[in-house]
Amino acid sequence: MLDSQLEELRRSTLAGFASARSLEELEKARVEALGRKGTLAQISKDFGKLSSEERARTGKLLNSVKQDLEGEYEGKKLRFEQAELAERLAEEWIDVTLPAPGVRPGSLHPVTQLQNEIEELFTSLGFAVLYGPEVESEEHNFDALNIPAAHPARDMQDTFWLSNGQLLRTHTSPVQVRGMRALRPPLRMIAPGRVFRNEEVDASHEHTFYQVEGMMVDRDVSVANLIYFMKTLLGGIFQREITVRLRPGYFPFVEPGFELDIQCLICSGRGCPVCKHSGWVELCPCGLVHPNVLHLSDIDPEEWSGFAFGLGLTRLAMMRYGIDDIRLLQGGDLRFLTQF
Ligand code: DAH
Repeated sequence: MLDSQLEELRRSTLAGFASARSLEELEKARVEALGRKGTLAQISKDFGKLSSEERARTGKLLNSVKQDLEGEYEGKKLRFEQAELAERLAEEWIDVTLPAPGVRPGSLHPVTQLQNEIEELFTSLGFAVLYGPEVESEEHNFDALNIPAAHPARDMQDTFWLSNGQLLRTHTSPVQVRGMRALRPPLRMIAPGRVFRNEEVDASHEHTFYQVEGMMVDRDVSVANLIYFMKTLLGGIFQREITVRLRPGYFPFVEPGFELDIQCLICSGRGCPVCKHSGWVELCPCGLVHPNVLHLSDIDPEEWSGFAFGLGLTRLAMMRYGIDDIRLLQGGDLRFLTQF
């Protein structure tokens, strides 16, 4: 009785395996026959009713049916898997002898290039390079620079204030303060970096741009030192002799304060549209460090003096490369960026 059931199971299951046309169909046939609740398991339940003699014989048959079916299943499964693999390999075929697609290397942003050059130049003149945080305290950005609370630079329209009372630095000058407090005089430092102003954006204004702050504090530092360093720097950047002039300018953290102009590089001072026919281009505010500023960083103004300047890095890059719209610099347009 059980013997014939087993033979029937073997026959029908082998037929089922043979007609399976996918791994899923094959698996379904296996579960029906050999699964935990499959036909073989059902047949085994009746084993207990057999005499011990019958049990030995039928047991042998059961094992051989089971082995046959499992063997057939494994073989067929393997063939399915190999066929699948072959199909995939045919699809994913690649020609390893083809030349690689062109790799376009990235390039440094024009402002970064200029920043690197300026850092190198000043490093060679014995200046330290400091960076400082972009999120600053009011104290570093304003108070310690002798900018009184009522100064327009603190106006809500210019400064991005954070809800915790900190701000996005509006200039790199706060790094002066950090430099004086950390390095102590005599010191020479520059601080290149990103600054933020709450500005209406147009061709010549951005809310985010780059400056380089410079500072030297020593004994008997004078305007002559300032002019020498600026001429050396600008000559290095533009690769030619630069003529500069100073005009008076007001900044709370310097006294006296100046606007440093360079003779127009386009017309050599004869007058052209770039310099608005004046022969001069305004480039860099600067001055001798205000005694209050030294004092606020615990430096004795009787013993030490210094100069400071704030170079517009973005502005300088625009002049050097003839870029007439500041928005291009941060726009992320590859057609612009790949030119550098
Ligand atoms: N921090 C000023 C600004 O962003 C620029 C400046 C002016 C820096 C005069 C200086 C300086 O170091 O002496 O408007």
